[in-house]
Amino acid sequence: MTSTGVPWWRDGVFYQIYPRSFADSNGDGIGDLQGVISKLGYLQWLGIDGVWLNPTTPSPNKDWGYDVSDFRGVDPDLGTLDDVEALVAEAGRRGIRILFDLVPNHTSDHHDWFVDSRSARSARHRDWYVWRDPNEDGSPPNNWVSVFGGSAWKLEEGTGQFYLHNFLESQPDLNWWNDEVRDEFDDILRFWFDKGIAGFRIDVAHGIVKDQELRDNLPAEEGDLPRIRLLGQRQTYNMNRPEVHAVLQRWRKLGDDYDPQRILVGETFVLDIARMASFYGSGEDELHLAFNFPFILAPFSPDVLRDIVSATEGALPPSAWPVWAASNHDVRRFPSRWCNNDDAQTRCALMLLLTMRGTPFLYYGDEIGMPDTEMDPDRVLDPVKWRTEDNLGRDPGRTPMHWSAATGAGFTTGETEPWLPFGDYGSCNVADQKEDASSTLSFTRDLIALRRELDELRGGPYEMVEAGTAVWAWQRGEGVLVALNLSDETATVENTTGFVRIATRRERDGEEIKGPLTLGPWEGALITPSR
Ligand code: NOJ
Repeated sequence: MTSTGVPWWRDGVFYQIYPRSFADSNGDGIGDLQGVISKLGYLQWLGIDGVWLNPTTPSPNKDWGYDVSDFRGVDPDLGTLDDVEALVAEAGRRGIRILFDLVPNHTSDHHDWFVDSRSARSARHRDWYVWRDPNEDGSPPNNWVSVFGGSAWKLEEGTGQFYLHNFLESQPDLNWWNDEVRDEFDDILRFWFDKGIAGFRIDVAHGIVKDQELRDNLPAEEGDLPRIRLLGQRQTYNMNRPEVHAVLQRWRKLGDDYDPQRILVGETFVLDIARMASFYGSGEDELHLAFNFPFILAPFSPDVLRDIVSATEGALPPSAWPVWAASNHDVRRFPSRWCNNDDAQTRCALMLLLTMRGTPFLYYGDEIGMPDTEMDPDRVLDPVKWRTEDNLGRDPGRTPMHWSAATGAGFTTGETEPWLPFGDYGSCNVADQKEDASSTLSFTRDLIALRRELDELRGGPYEMVEAGTAVWAWQRGEGVLVALNLSDETATVENTTGFVRIATRRERDGEEIKGPLTLGPWEGALITPSR
């Protein structure tokens, strides 16, 4: 709890770190945990309360950490368990809590459990994964397709059965109907809680339990979302089963019993808001926060986003709390995806994320408006690069952080090429923007500071204000009005009185508004009754 009695994660601002790309302490071109430790002062200066690290566990890196080969270890590229302890301790001294990424849906095929499981039908861990006999004609047990393309089944010649993989072949799915798997994960959660980890972002949180009868998925239909049409089938039985709620409830209870400050944040990759809301359970017995993919994947259009926010406000149980993010390691960076690499638009998006009712998650670099990196296709390492039209996959949003304009971007001191190429760090970096009070970084930091200062900005109810089609405006409680002109034309909000506390065009800070508030194209302002 904070001094106001509100749980820390409701009032907090989170920051997602892709560890391989944040800061490289040993010059090998790969970011690492010591690198993260070296930047905690920066995160404290920015006003961050919680950090989510993408997987740090050992991995053959077929899917860059999401193929885990040991759930209780640290990947040698990134550091050691001692580094984790140092990170937690040093972050704690700075008032920052650390969340890890939990990957319960699947393991790497290099994991000891799977090595054993595939060795014989009678193996000790055989039932920890989903194995089935072929159909009489030798075909896979059902029609399920992998999210990463092709059949979700792979025949293991040695034992003559298929195993299930909802992602890569090298990521076999665990069998969540097996109680030993459930017990094992309870122990993994406790292992990291004992190390001081404040909670988990749960990978594929909606999908870990499969239909016990392995029924065929139904075909996609014309009105289905493009992602479903691309797969050719609805994911009714290979994920999205109602039985997953019991697992989330079990983890919530485990965490609450351990220490009610520990939190669970779900990668609830579902595209309808009612279903997303269901992962909060009663609001107190499943996830603390569930990522809102309808919002993340929406176009940056006031009409669409307004409706999504209203629907989210309406769908969540009264005690549940929204979460707002626009970039992550899978969807690329919002300054490019939403804002056309335009600074004014990027500031509108930052103002939106940091003034909604809910917990914001910034992705490393969002605070400086870091764009996607233009890459040579030969440098792409994402195994599913074919999933984007440009054939660059997710990598343009995963490249090294731009710390400065110096050689190596302040990311690495080494001569070694970074694991993914640098973007244009000369024109967009932390060091230059830190010096400049009118920069996007200063804007982000000032908005975060304002959240700390104004109770209503953190906790006040969200109420939309009618302001025409181009402007999206809302009150937070009585005392805060936010208005964003998300269009190329000048627009006005009638009957506004007060003072501009912060505007996307910083020269307007402090301006008194009496009557209409005029906003230029892609301009936003936050108004309070007094200065
Ligand atoms: C979601 C993760 O965010 C993504 O990066 C990964 O490829 C899949 N889950 C499979 O683990």
